[in-house]
Amino acid sequence: MSLPPILAIETSCDDTAAAVWADGRLASSVVAGQRIHEQFGGVVPEHASRAHERLIVPTIQAALDEAALTIADLGAVAVTVGPGLAGSLLVGLSAAKGIAVGAGIPLIGVNHLEGHVYSVMIEAPRPPLPFLCLTVSGGHTLLTLVKEGFVHEELGRTRDDAAGEAFDKVAKLLGLPYPGGPPIDRLAAEGDPAFLDLPSPRLGPKGRRGNALFDLSFSGIKTAVRYWIADLGDETDAVLDAHRADVAASFQQTVVDALVTGVRQAVEETGVQAVAVVGGVSANRGLRAAMTEAGQADGFEVFIPDPAHSVDNAAMIAVTAATKWAAGEVSDLSIGATPSLAL
Ligand code: KG4
Ligand code: ZN
Repeated sequence: MSLPPILAIETSCDDTAAAVWADGRLASSVVAGQRIHEQFGGVVPEHASRAHERLIVPTIQAALDEAALTIADLGAVAVTVGPGLAGSLLVGLSAAKGIAVGAGIPLIGVNHLEGHVYSVMIEAPRPPLPFLCLTVSGGHTLLTLVKEGFVHEELGRTRDDAAGEAFDKVAKLLGLPYPGGPPIDRLAAEGDPAFLDLPSPRLGPKGRRGNALFDLSFSGIKTAVRYWIADLGDETDAVLDAHRADVAASFQQTVVDALVTGVRQAVEETGVQAVAVVGGVSANRGLRAAMTEAGQADGFEVFIPDPAHSVDNAAMIAVTAATKWAAGEVSDLSIGATPSLAL
């Protein structure tokens, strides 16, 4: 028996998103990006919450229209409760509570990171449980073992910047726009990955330092790029113009190698043969290709969501909520935004 339709709302950072899950599949997914942050080279929290306030009702309406449904057709409303920016989360949470109270339907709070993890469940093929999940986004980089019953066992994480943050910071050093992942991805396809020898972000066993299975640090690679550029002196503009793609390719290759090597090792040590790669950085073409190749070489199966579901969206919140609702999990109307919620 399939559940009545669920409307999901996601406003944790700088994308205002709504989606509808109905009849066991995604019926609609709308993401309204916020261009305002480009001019600041990063997300300005105050601007983000104001933009969410402007965009939330039209975005929800667009998702309902695309699914050819009205609020009266909904069985539940789901919303991201954290982690994220407090003011941004509150806009989505208030909208969801208003709908829950007005329509007299249950509210389902969803952890944004859990949403990323279950983004691999939006479309077939879906991984079997348990699976290893590499979450690489703008705010988080961690490897978990995902088990039945929403159990997430952490195997390691970054000690400083997230992978997406490293892409954004290196892009800024190269004079590329925010967010930096997509332009680095595009440039890297044309550059020489052997141009610069950069320090690996890997710290774990068989890495350079550290002791957890999947310990990473992205501060060294970012600093190495910064110093390389600083040393160019008067030549900076000319060298960057000639080699921007080569630096992008070198950086991307080093990050991808570290992530892939860590995952291969985790597969070997846990014996788990299904690997999901989720979060904004999983939209990266280099990472998608390298992870798929590693899976073919080592015999594990790789599951990566459609690029539209790698970056922030509400479809992932909808599918997570559907699974929770099916398991009888609903939230109290008094739930609040939890900006620092862990997985
Ligand atoms: O998951 P996401 O949309 O938001 C967070 O939860 O953080 O991830 C955003 C991050 C940004 O740092 C962005 O630069 C990165 O994902 N990103 C990419 C690509 N597309 C987005 N990084 C590398 N290659 C891409 N194609
Ligand atoms: Zn995210």
